Amino acid sequence: MNPMIPPTEKQDRLLYLKTAWQQDILSGVVFGQHENTSCCKDLRLRQVQKYILTGARQISHRYAKLRILQVGASSIVLVQAMHQELGKAIDSYTILDTSDRAIEDMKQEMISDDLNIRFGVNKIARDVRTLDKTTSQRPIDLGLFDLIILPKAYKEQPTTLNAIRSLLKPGGFLLMMVTGLHLLLGKSKLVLWVTPAQETKPRAKAVRLDLCEPSKPKARKRFCSSSTWIRSNGNESLAAKSFLRLIGGVLMRDDGSMRLWTVESEVSVQGGRLLIPRVLFDEKRNDRLNSLRRRVKARAPFKKQPGNLVRPIDPSELFSPSKTYILVDLNGHIGQSIARWMVKRGVRHIVITSRTMPPIEGLANVAMVQSNCFFPDLTYDALQEVLMPKVDRSAIPDEVFSDHDPDFFLLSSSISAVTGQPFQANSDAANRFMTGLAFQRRVRNLPASVIDFGPVIGLGFIQKIDSSGGSDVMISTLRGLGYMLVSERGLHHLLIEAIFIGKSNESPGITAGLGTVSGNAPFWHKSLLFSHIIQKP
Ligand SMILES: NC(=O)c1ccc[n+]([C@@H]2O[C@H](COP(=O)([O-])OP(=O)(O)OC[C@H]3O[C@@H](n4cnc5c(N)ncnc54)[C@H](OP(=O)(O)O)[C@@H]3O)[C@@H](O)[C@H]2O)c1
Repeated sequence: MNPMIPPTEKQDRLLYLKTAWQQDILSGVVFGQHENTSCCKDLRLRQVQKYILTGARQISHRYAKLRILQVGASSIVLVQAMHQELGKAIDSYTILDTSDRAIEDMKQEMISDDLNIRFGVNKIARDVRTLDKTTSQRPIDLGLFDLIILPKAYKEQPTTLNAIRSLLKPGGFLLMMVTGLHLLLGKSKLVLWVTPAQETKPRAKAVRLDLCEPSKPKARKRFCSSSTWIRSNGNESLAAKSFLRLIGGVLMRDDGSMRLWTVESEVSVQGGRLLIPRVLFDEKRNDRLNSLRRRVKARAPFKKQPGNLVRPIDPSELFSPSKTYILVDLNGHIGQSIARWMVKRGVRHIVITSRTMPPIEGLANVAMVQSNCFFPDLTYDALQEVLMPKVDRSAIPDEVFSDHDPDFFLLSSSISAVTGQPFQANSDAANRFMTGLAFQRRVRNLPASVIDFGPVIGLGFIQKIDSSGGSDVMISTLRGLGYMLVSERGLHHLLIEAIFIGKSNESPGITAGLGTVSGNAPFWHKSLLFSHIIQKP
């Protein structure tokens, strides 16, 4: 450029340059790289397309001016994303499809995009060199491409794939998704699997890779004659050596040569060292196992034996009676055996989950939240908090088991719901709901009972008040209100009665805990409701 001539506005716009370093496609898998692809966020690309896009971006970084062929007129978003992301790195973009209609539809949908795309109708498998002259499309140049993309999951015959590959320049790239890995593996003689080392493998990938782990003889038989699985954290030279050893090993096996050579089905690279797995006897554990069978001959004279005396592991420290253990779906025979074994070793709390529920024959709700306040001070949240354990926790099982006839459906209300405690409007409402539900269930001919408990001593919320005499104060207050205390034994009697009443023709409610007091009559004595139980002084 002549420095005397002032730069044009266009040149101004391209004044600045920068050097960018980007990962080459050969230096690692593209999975996980797609987050860097800026346009992915705006375009709703599927995961598969993101991988293709990321791969294409890496290729275009190294090889500018790519001649790209996309086979299949689908995924407009991918075409748009490719143009956004690769931009000037695209020399030409050709889309081929076997269907006139698909090509026309795609053209119409992309009319406003103003992209320089060549469309063609061609059945590649039939003839890669000549275009299908019977179609209405104009022939296009199918010279060699740098990059071919098969955005739809590939499930065609290998001949089609071969035809597509023949449109690639030597060294060119084919980015494709494969439906059913077995289709590809079924045609492969040798396979080298390179995966991240086990300890760094993300969980989802671990499942995907182990699914077709080639070292399993069954998989090898189905898929390919030989394979090596290399778990590596980026040591390409060892990966390449393993592949060469695999090829060499297979060739020598076929030519009958008697060399000391193994074709490893699985190797691992850790810290630059190649590790080979072999199953060995675990002597330490075998000794421990066998020590359980050791007979002690009491009369034999003591004589020091060579070697170490092995003791079995003492399992007494393994578990704690105060901790809870979750056994997921361990209700099968082995699971039950494990649970029994744990109980023998002191476990007292086991949660066993299962997909198959044993029949439920009884249900009791004793949930409660206490929150005392006078009605004018009651907030919406405080009311909800108190209603939830009693209303939702009773209504939901009632609904879930609506066509089920269990032995009992037991709800726990409180004596205060009967007497009406001035500062317990919220819990009274919750308890009265339970009473209503029990009656409703009986009308539906389903078992139900509700107990209006008086103050229970020795356990429950009163016991928990505090250890510095708070319970005693509460108990004497309750006594003063004419409530009769319920013992644990009394509680159990109430349960039996309630279960029986729940299926009888009687009213499903049992009330327990009203006494009579001499002297100052408590507030509830004024109610006619109790006129039959109040004795005259
Ligand atoms: N104790 C008495 O003197 C007395 C008197 C009259 C009536 N009652 C009735 O007897 C029943 C039991 O009383 P309690 O003294 O044993 O009470 P508690 O010791 O306070 O126990 C209440 C239980 O309810 C659970 N809970 C609270 N909110 C829940 C929710 N949203 N969902 C599920 N569970 C929830 C709590 O479980 P978390 O561990 O999850 O918090 C707690 O285990 C109550 O229905 C009460 O109305 C008791």
